[in-house]
Amino acid sequence: MSYSDKVLDHYENPRNVGALEAGDASVGTGMVGAPACGDVMKLQIKVNADGIIEEARFKTYGCGSAIASSSLVTEWVKGKTLDQALEIKNTAIAEELALPPVKIHCSILAEDAIKAAVADYRNKHEVVDAGYAACN
Ligand code: FES
Ligand code: FES
Repeated sequence: MSYSDKVLDHYENPRNVGALEAGDASVGTGMVGAPACGDVMKLQIKVNADGIIEEARFKTYGCGSAIASSSLVTEWVKGKTLDQALEIKNTAIAEELALPPVKIHCSILAEDAIKAAVADYRNKHEVVDAGYAACN
């Protein structure tokens, strides 16, 4: 099986590799694993005061397709609201990267990582908002 040009491009020049400060209240961190292969993907988003994702980072311990999928979604989530980010489907990722059927689960990992990062961000803010409510 050979990788598509887009997978190779993201694999060889991954975008937004690294980490954001997980303790930062404006950062949501999603960590997901694929039971099928044991690959692990960490995706982080940084949300500005207007509720827009302004930065994203990833670290993926996995195959080329998983790395390409996570690199791609760090580009796609930027400039989106959380709800818009949640609309990114693995099928769109798989189509963009021309993933073969055996690699579809790699794109599902990226979709799951977005969901987990958004959920983590929202969790943090429910707590913070409840705290503020108690103060006022
Ligand atoms: Fe499992 Fe790619 S082979 S994430
Ligand atoms: Fe502690 Fe408001 S700062 S209750």
